[in-house]
Amino acid sequence: MSSTPSTSSVARIAYLSSDVLVSSLPPFPSTSPYAETITSLSDASRHRPIVLSVLNGGDPGATLLRNRTGKLVSYLALANPQLVTRLVPHITELSSLPVVLHLAVRDDLSDALILRPSIPFVLHSSTAQQAHDNSLLASRLARTEKKAVLHIFYVGESTETLDEVQEGRIQPFLLSEVPRSPPRSPFNAQANGVNGHGLNGFANGVNGHPEELLESDSITTDMYKSYETTTWSTVALTRRPIRPIIQRGSSPSSSHTVIFVFGRQLTFSEAPEGVSLVSASLFSPLPPSKLLSAIPPSAERVIVLEQIQKWPVKFTPFYLEVVSAVQNAHTEIKPAVYPCVLGHPDTVKQVDVLKLVQQASSGVAPLHLGSIVEPPHVSSAEVPHVPKHELSYTKILSKLFEGRLEIENSPFLVASEGSEATTPEFALGRVRGELEERKELVSAVQELLDSGDITSDVHALLSKWMISRDDPVKSRALGAEVVTELEGIKGPAAAKVLAFKHHLSALSRWIIGSDIWAYDLGASGLHHAIASGLNVNVLVVDTTPYSARHTADPHRRKQDVGLYAMNHGDVYVASVAVYSSYAQVLQALVEADKFNGPSVVLAYLPYVSEDVAALEVLKETKNAVDAGYWPLYRWDPSKEEPFVLDSDAVKNDLQAFLDRQNHISQLVRSKPELASELVGSLGESLKEARRKKALKAYEDLLGNIDAPPLLVLYASDGGKAEKVAKRLAGRGKARGLSTDMKSMDAVSVEDVKEEGIVVFITSVAGQGEFPQNGRTFVKALNAAAARGEKPLEGLKFSVFGMGDSHYWPRPEDAHYYNKAGKDLDARLEQVGAQRVLQLGLGDDQDADGPETGYKIWEPLVWKALGVDAVEVKEAEPEPITNEHIKVASNYLRGTIAEGLEDKTTGSLSPADTQLTKFHGIYQQDDRDIRDEREVQGVEPAYQFMIRVRMPGGVCRPDQWLQMDQIADEHGNGTFKITTRQTFQFHGIIKRHLKPAIQDINRALLDTLAACGDVNRNVLCSAVPSLSRLHAEIYEFAKGVSEHLLPRTTAYHEIWLDKKLVAGDALKDAEPLYGEFYLPRKYKVAVAVPPTNDVDIFANDVGFIAIVDGKGRLAGFNVTAGGGMGVTHGNKKTYPRAADVLGFCTVEQGKIVAEKIMLVQRDNGNRADRKNARLKYTIDRMGLDVFKDEVEKLLGYKLAPARPYSFDRNIDDFGWATGEDGKHHFTLFIENGRIQDEPNRDFKTGLREIAKIHKGTFRLTANQHVVISDIPSSELETIKDLLAKYKLDNLSHSGLRLSSSACVAFPTCGLAMAESERYLPVLIDKVEKICEENGLRNDSIVMRMTGCPNGCARPYLAEVAFVGKAPGTYLMLLGGGYYGQRLNKIYRESVTEPDILAILKPMIKHYALERLEGEHFGDFVIRTGYIAPTTSGKEWYDHMGGEGQHREIMA
Ligand SMILES: Cc1cc2nc3c(=O)[nH]c(=O)nc-3n(C[C@H](O)[C@H](O)[C@H](O)COP(=O)(O)O)c2cc1C
Ligand code: SF4
Repeated sequence: MSSTPSTSSVARIAYLSSDVLVSSLPPFPSTSPYAETITSLSDASRHRPIVLSVLNGGDPGATLLRNRTGKLVSYLALANPQLVTRLVPHITELSSLPVVLHLAVRDDLSDALILRPSIPFVLHSSTAQQAHDNSLLASRLARTEKKAVLHIFYVGESTETLDEVQEGRIQPFLLSEVPRSPPRSPFNAQANGVNGHGLNGFANGVNGHPEELLESDSITTDMYKSYETTTWSTVALTRRPIRPIIQRGSSPSSSHTVIFVFGRQLTFSEAPEGVSLVSASLFSPLPPSKLLSAIPPSAERVIVLEQIQKWPVKFTPFYLEVVSAVQNAHTEIKPAVYPCVLGHPDTVKQVDVLKLVQQASSGVAPLHLGSIVEPPHVSSAEVPHVPKHELSYTKILSKLFEGRLEIENSPFLVASEGSEATTPEFALGRVRGELEERKELVSAVQELLDSGDITSDVHALLSKWMISRDDPVKSRALGAEVVTELEGIKGPAAAKVLAFKHHLSALSRWIIGSDIWAYDLGASGLHHAIASGLNVNVLVVDTTPYSARHTADPHRRKQDVGLYAMNHGDVYVASVAVYSSYAQVLQALVEADKFNGPSVVLAYLPYVSEDVAALEVLKETKNAVDAGYWPLYRWDPSKEEPFVLDSDAVKNDLQAFLDRQNHISQLVRSKPELASELVGSLGESLKEARRKKALKAYEDLLGNIDAPPLLVLYASDGGKAEKVAKRLAGRGKARGLSTDMKSMDAVSVEDVKEEGIVVFITSVAGQGEFPQNGRTFVKALNAAAARGEKPLEGLKFSVFGMGDSHYWPRPEDAHYYNKAGKDLDARLEQVGAQRVLQLGLGDDQDADGPETGYKIWEPLVWKALGVDAVEVKEAEPEPITNEHIKVASNYLRGTIAEGLEDKTTGSLSPADTQLTKFHGIYQQDDRDIRDEREVQGVEPAYQFMIRVRMPGGVCRPDQWLQMDQIADEHGNGTFKITTRQTFQFHGIIKRHLKPAIQDINRALLDTLAACGDVNRNVLCSAVPSLSRLHAEIYEFAKGVSEHLLPRTTAYHEIWLDKKLVAGDALKDAEPLYGEFYLPRKYKVAVAVPPTNDVDIFANDVGFIAIVDGKGRLAGFNVTAGGGMGVTHGNKKTYPRAADVLGFCTVEQGKIVAEKIMLVQRDNGNRADRKNARLKYTIDRMGLDVFKDEVEKLLGYKLAPARPYSFDRNIDDFGWATGEDGKHHFTLFIENGRIQDEPNRDFKTGLREIAKIHKGTFRLTANQHVVISDIPSSELETIKDLLAKYKLDNLSHSGLRLSSSACVAFPTCGLAMAESERYLPVLIDKVEKICEENGLRNDSIVMRMTGCPNGCARPYLAEVAFVGKAPGTYLMLLGGGYYGQRLNKIYRESVTEPDILAILKPMIKHYALERLEGEHFGDFVIRTGYIAPTTSGKEWYDHMGGEGQHREIMA
């Protein structure tokens, strides 16, 4: 083929802009239209790219990948189906490389458009000039964005003319800076911007669609911007406009018809009146808003003209995009959208367009414009009737594999083979037979080769065939030659080969069937195909519409064929949907064909009857894919990374399978010697073991199909009800029931209707409310009941409720007890369901908790189901606890590293989230939007909290600056000073975790052991005025922290990419912790009397500094057994203030901390995490026995404690000067949140201070900051900055200065009520009461937490609030002012009005009757509001107030 202006200008730009130029040659004897240009340039040009040609039938994708460079690779070809098919398997990999694919087309875009979904940028040129300009644009775009660009252009006519950019300007253009704004030129003055700014020359918004971004735009916005800035550079070079969309014809504001032309421009000069013609030169990314901006409100219809006569399925790509844009537009009246095929545009006249508009409005279909070339006729004899749904896929198969497609169960065979011919068993038999025959062919050829009866040419030909016999293209061509040669040769060997000549080309063998097979894998023969190991491909078409997914027969559960096949290990599996991604279908079919073994392709095509509208099929497909019901994926076990997810969402069971796979491959990779152990004994191979496992799974499946089904539905907030449901489901299975378990909101009322028996287990959340994951289901039940409907008639059910009869203890609240379970039980009956067993109730207050009630109820369930007599032999699997996770983690590794790589979810696996705690990381999710996301059916907005390890809370200004930056770059832009004197970042998404940790380490800090069952951040008093002493205790605190630090190298390996500890030579060991680490967390603090700012008695171990007569540190009084965490309603849990054990010297200190930890390690309760802290160990062992154990390990007795006295546990705000003459300023940061707020730019202020500060920062355990060690020379500058940013404002009330709150909502997963966001608001109100009573400056220690875990140490406050449910708190009174005494529950549930009503008279009383210097906590005890708490174990005694102040309990 000779060149045209288009092909030679494209070839020229490709040549002059690339490092590597690849071109595909057309079939001989045609010549490439690019060849001439390339040859002349290689003589004339100074630019010398590597030039490569790919022969016809070769694999251009592989050539492009092999020759990738960091700069630019260009590819030139004429589009045709075979070429596109060869590119498809590589397209995903190519898409993220700087590659430009220039594909010339004649008059049909079908072939080229197949690649469009997988390529980031797709440009389209209608004329030779456009082809030239777009080639420049494409080259620069690919080069700067490092992404593939597909440039589709027309071969065009030889008469076209164009202006070309000079050679010398091309390379500088590719390398030039990005202009910041569009270039000024005459042509963009009249249009409202050049490149998509107003797109079409009309002012934004004229046509009623201002260029607001649509939701769906967001995906393409960034890419669109890249395109736009690249056009600016190109326009600056060419001085010609480049517009993504060009509109011409009638004034848009008065058009009744808009015609989008995706193809060559129509050539007539003027469009008919009222018709606006829009053509696109940018095909991808094409934001919906850009399409909409071309459709005025006056438009009654939109016609989408696509030049794609060969497109194999009904709906064409651009039509669907326009439909979707119109449907999602925020307009009330939406124009009708019509698809139309464009033939040859040159023949189209104005009058044809008018006719088209008329046809569209009178409902003529299908529409077409321009002369259409009829596709070759396929005679009915060749294609007997195949159900319509299968036809879409079989058409694709025929197109892909052409002559070598063999449908083994084709209905065509029925005539010759009988009705059995369409069954998979028959087909499998056929495949087996054919493969046997092919084997015979191979041995016949071998025989002929060995015989010596043939000429050397024939010998060479047969040898070539032997080598290439499995290559689909070569085997066919060579096969044909073999037949020609052998037909002239006599003898039995040649005759034998000719007898099997139909096997000379490598066939693609397919068995096609429907999802009916999935109901019964055994009988369907599908199992046999999967297990056969034969090189056969199975295409299973699933037609169940997404909306009808629950109406299937519940007694015959459909099995997940994909999962089943994947479990086999050596089967290629793909899940595809032609109406979601056509390119992915092609990719999967090509891969399946290539895979040497069984392949299963599950193809989705949802429809109920043959005449359903195709738009419905499209919608159903979209919903199914978006919801993860029909995930698009490909699993190729021959690859290193077998799994590729092609859609966004996955089903849970698929996720679980992948998790399992990850885990197995991780274990095998890290410990190759384990591989055989992992997969069984006797040296079996992994595959063999997998096959066995699959066989067992298959047998289980078969067993389950016949068993009566039991569905267990649960609603649970805290996980207890879920656990009970899981156990019940497991026990059901063990009794042979076909059991399924889900949360209530995972099903609809319609789903449940068809189930035989459903057991519900629900706890209660809030005040008598249903847990979150049951609310939608219950709402639907309530609605049905309100309408008097009985949708669940025939359903059998029983309910087990789990609650706490004391959660809301007032008599008037008694009805909240187990309200959810009771309500559900009644409601189910109301909507027609039949109760088979009375409601069961579990109460946290019972001796054995909810188990007491459950033990009675469960046997009755088995009886009701008639399986009570079934003997259960299998031992119940032991529940996985944190202890299992720790010991199996290989010293805190788990599969964290693999989890970080997994892009399919924002979370880590549940076990890994337990392990990351040891690395200072908590997985959380944004709870403010949790419900909303659940409604949308997407996973929670997972994010992580990172806590820094920073003993004593001391850091340098440069470290502060880095923390500030980390919050901005990786987190939510704020950070928190915690009650353990460290920094905490929130809102870090998974992708940012590793960079954030690396940045923290770059600042010479780390996060190791900031959380987890290890020693946590060691606290030390901030004591600004005692500089020398602070220096000593700070060193001591650091020493203890280092001494008790875990020794695992996992932290460095996972986060800092340090080398893996491999083999036996370098084994991780934890000399102090061992593989199990501690039973629970372990907290150490150091205090300097008289300040108890670290709340020493709240810690597992405390060191109270004892100063000698000369003011020097003599040693410490050691305390042990403090701890805060409690569980609501569980009286086995309580807070405890530590006991003083004795005195030790400074040198002995860290070993004392170690030995106490070891006694706890060996004696702590590992069976119950709620009872595992040191405080319980001491109470269980007795203080004396415990102390003896510690002293035994120490080898000496602790000296008697020395006198000390504390007088406060709040911070000393304001200025102080140390003995060394340096200055310190303690500033007030409400609840430790470092952020900028209107009028309070504290984050900026502290950053500005850090930039010039020469001393240190100290964080306090009350969540405030000391700017410490300020030399006198800097004093004024710092003061100025403090004043400038209002950081020196300490004129808060005494109450506010003494307050403290934990984080709680929205990030803490355990929060039951607001804390950090609410306490300041509450203080505003209580402050007023204090002011009214003249107590503005009096300090009352008030603390709040969002749950009973007690992070802000609420149980030592004078007054405290602990979250129970949104807006509702426990109220506690009577803590010691300097943290020496626990408070006690005064009211079990208060809301804000209650709090104010209680505090108002109480504070007044305090103002009037307090003794000299008497603190509030002491006052409420002396005046009989509450009894004092003398020890943790007695915390619950006398709760609820004293005498007249006592609350009447339920
Ligand atoms: C915030 C909150 C509110 C609760 N409200 C009630 C209630 O109103 N009535 C009740 O009987 N139990 C109530 N309980 C107790 C729980 O229902 C009970 O502890 C249950 O076992 C928790 O199960 P779960 O972990 O599955 O959510 C409440 C518990 C919490 C944490
Ligand atoms: S006290 Fe509870 S709610 Fe507050 S941060 Fe700690 S765990 Fe979260």
